[in-house]
Amino acid sequence: MDITIKESTLDEAIRINKQIPELEEPHFTKAYCEQKCGSKEKLVLIAYLNKEPAGYLIGFDHHEDGSFYCWMVGVLLKFRRKGVLTSLMQYQDKWAKKKGYTGIRLKTRNKRREMLAYLVKYGFSFARVIKKGHETPEEYRICMEKKL
Ligand SMILES: CC(C)(COP(=O)(O)OP(=O)(O)OC[C@H]1O[C@@H](n2cnc3c(N)ncnc32)[C@H](O)[C@@H]1OP(=O)(O)O)[C@@H](O)C(=O)NCCC(=O)NCCS
Repeated sequence: MDITIKESTLDEAIRINKQIPELEEPHFTKAYCEQKCGSKEKLVLIAYLNKEPAGYLIGFDHHEDGSFYCWMVGVLLKFRRKGVLTSLMQYQDKWAKKKGYTGIRLKTRNKRREMLAYLVKYGFSFARVIKKGHETPEEYRICMEKKL
């Protein structure tokens, strides 16, 4: 399996996001992403599996506390469980370390079981749970972090 990671554009990341059933939402536009990341340092990655776009990652310096925030990540259904997420996260770790960041932070939901499995396996710790309104536990956001 030949996985390549390239730094890319929000347009390309959004194009892939549209094909990920769990993440595709009408409000996920370039304007939304630009507003979310603001002028903060950001990283947009595309993963290619055998030269086909297979997944994406968007991260930015959200907290300005020395950590890098992995905001969005997704892999197309047909390319799952082949190490695409692992490769994206490895690239992000290396890039963030080189830039001087000391950790990675992210939020996911209880219902994202594949992501939680990855995070536990690859050294993240549970830091906090956010519950909004009358959400059911599956929707609670789980804040995870690890040191680089
Ligand atoms: C979560 C997601 C990005 C994983 O991508 P992937 O490329 O399939 O992940 P990888 O192949 O790199 O797997 C890495 C590890 O994650 C865990 N994992 C991934 N999919 C899993 C599954 N279906 N069941 C159990 N563990 C799983 C495993 O620990 C795996 O390591 P292993 O294969 O050595 O056992 C993908 O399932 C996805 O896009 N899901 C929908 C969107 C989403 O939840 N995004 C995260 C939002 S925060």
